Amino acid sequence: MNYNPFDPETIADPFSAYRNLRTDAPVYRSEEHGFWVVSRYDDVTRVLRDHENFSSTAGVGTEWRPVPMMISVDPPEHTHLRRMAQREFTPRAINEWGPRVSDLVDGLLDSFVANGGGDLVPNLAYPIPIGVIADMLGVPFEDRDDFKRWSDDTIDALGGGLDPETSLRVETSVFEFAQYFMNAITQRRDAPGDDLLSMLIDPANGETLSNNDLVSFAILLLVAGNETTTNLIGNLVLALATNPEQWDLLKADPSLVPAAIEEALRFDSPIQGFFRNTLKETEVRGVTIPADQKVMVLYGSANRDERKYPDPDRFLVQRNPMDHVAFGSGIHLCLGAPLARMEGALFLKGLLSRVERIELNGDVVRTHNPLLRGVSHLPVRFVAR
Ligand code: HEM
Repeated sequence: MNYNPFDPETIADPFSAYRNLRTDAPVYRSEEHGFWVVSRYDDVTRVLRDHENFSSTAGVGTEWRPVPMMISVDPPEHTHLRRMAQREFTPRAINEWGPRVSDLVDGLLDSFVANGGGDLVPNLAYPIPIGVIADMLGVPFEDRDDFKRWSDDTIDALGGGLDPETSLRVETSVFEFAQYFMNAITQRRDAPGDDLLSMLIDPANGETLSNNDLVSFAILLLVAGNETTTNLIGNLVLALATNPEQWDLLKADPSLVPAAIEEALRFDSPIQGFFRNTLKETEVRGVTIPADQKVMVLYGSANRDERKYPDPDRFLVQRNPMDHVAFGSGIHLCLGAPLARMEGALFLKGLLSRVERIELNGDVVRTHNPLLRGVSHLPVRFVAR
C-alpha cells in the first residue's frame, strides 16, 4: 500500500486511507517521505504517552519554528514552561473568561443571523478565536488589525514552502509581533492589568516566566489556538448541516451541546496528525523503529478507529466520546482544551437559541493543509427561530 499525506485527494478525504493503514499497515513506513506513520487508537496513545522515546524536539509539524516553545520541547524544559502556564488554563481559570467570550460570540452571531447567513468561516469561525485571544492578551482595540495580520502571517509560516518575498513578509510580522509583546510585557510589569500576560508575570502567583518565554508563549497561543478552533467551528457546522437529524436531536435536548462538541472533535479532528522523533530504537506493535526517525501520529485516524468507536464514520451527537485524542494525550495534551471547549459550547448554544434550520448555500471549500483539517469557505443559510 502507499500512503501519501500530501496528496490533494488524500487531504480532501483522508479517512479511507486511514482505514487501509489501520487494517493493513498499522505501523507504516513511507519510503518516499522517510517517516513512519501510526494510525490505530492504541498505538497513537501509546506513542503520545511515551515521551521518553518519542520526542517533540524536532518539531511537531512540518513547520518552520520561529523559537523553541512548550509544544516543541521535552522535559525538564517542558515541565517548567507548562507548569507556569497551566494555572491560567485550568477549567476554573478559563471559566472566568466566560462572560467576555459570550459577549463576543453573541455579537457576531446576532449580525450573522440577522443577515440570514453568509460565509460562516470569515464571519464567525475565524473572528471568534482570534478575538478571544486578543482579548485575553489585552490587545487594545486600535491594535487589533496589526494583531490579525501578525497572526495570519504566523500561521502562514506553519505551512512552510513559502516564496522568498512571502517568507520575508512573514518573518517581519513575527518580528513585529515579538517586539510588540516585549513592550507590552515591560509595561505590564510596571502597571499590571486584568489580562493573561499580567497574570503570568504577577510574582504574587509564584514563580514567573522570563520575557523571552512569555513572547514565545504568546506566539504559541496564536499558532496553536486560532486555526484549530476555527476548524472546530467550521467542521461542526458542516457536520450539523449535512446531518439534519443530529441538529434536530440537539434542538430537542440542548444539554447535548458538550457531547456534540466532543463528537465534532472526534469526527473531523482539527489536527489530523503531528510528528514525534525517536530518541532510541523503539518497538511499536512488534515493529522496530530505529533511533532518529520521524513518526507521524494520526489523531484523526485514532478517532475513527473501529476497534474503539462503533460506526466511526457516523457523526452522532449522543455518542459523547470523551476519550478521543483530538487534543492529544500525555504531557503535551492541549493546554487550551478548556478554552476551545468553552468557545465551541458557547457558539453552539448561541446557534441553537437563534436558528431553526441550517442549510448549505453554495460550495464548501476545504483547507489544503495535510496536518490541519478544516473548511475555508462554508456558505450557509440560517433559518431564524
Ligand atoms: C479545537 C481546538 C484545538 C485543538 C483541536 C487543539 C489540539 C491540540 C493538540 C492535538 C495538541 C498536542 C500537540 C502534540 O501532541 O504535540 C495541542 C497542544 C497545545 N495547544 Fe491546542 N488545540 C486547540 C485549541 C487550542 C487553544 C484555544 C489554545 C490556546 C489558546 C491551545 C494551546 C495549545 C498549547 C499551548 C499546546 C502545547 C501544550 C504542550 O506542549 O504542553 N490549543 N493542541
